[in-house]
Amino acid sequence: MLRWEDSIHALGVAEMDATHREFTALVNLLVECDDTDFAALFQKLLDHCRLHFTSEGRLMRISRFPAMNEHEGEHHRIYGDLVQMHRAVQRGRLALPRAFVKQGLEEWFGVHLASMDAALAAHLKRVGEARVEMSGGLPVLG
Ligand SMILES: [Fe+2]
Ligand SMILES: [Fe+2]
Repeated sequence: MLRWEDSIHALGVAEMDATHREFTALVNLLVECDDTDFAALFQKLLDHCRLHFTSEGRLMRISRFPAMNEHEGEHHRIYGDLVQMHRAVQRGRLALPRAFVKQGLEEWFGVHLASMDAALAAHLKRVGEARVEMSGGLPVLG
C-alpha cells in the first residue's frame, strides 16, 4: 500500500500533487481489488500514467527544465513496462502484473517522486517566482 501524506509527499505544485494523489489512490485500489476488477482498474492506471507523464512533460517544456531528457526517459521506461503488463492482463494473466503493481510500481513511485518529480517541482517554483517578480502578476503554479 502507498500511504499518501501531504507533509511528506506533496511537492507544492498543485497540478503535480493532484496527479500524484490520483496515482496513489489507483495503485492502492489495484493492490486491494479482486481479479474481476483488476483489468478495468489497470486500464485506468495506464490512462492515468499517459496523462500524468504528458502533463509533466508539458511542465518541463514550458519551464525549460534542464533534466528533461532524463526525466522523460524514465517516464518512457516505466510506461513501456506498463504497456507490457497491460498485454498480460488482457490475456488474463494477472500474477506478474499484480506483483509489478505491488512491488515494482510502488517502489518506483517512491524513488521517482523523491528525486525527479521533486527536482521538477523545485524548478517550477523557482521559475514561477522569478516570473512573478518580473511581472508583478499572480503565481501560475502551486
Ligand atoms: Fe509524477
Ligand atoms: Fe515524473
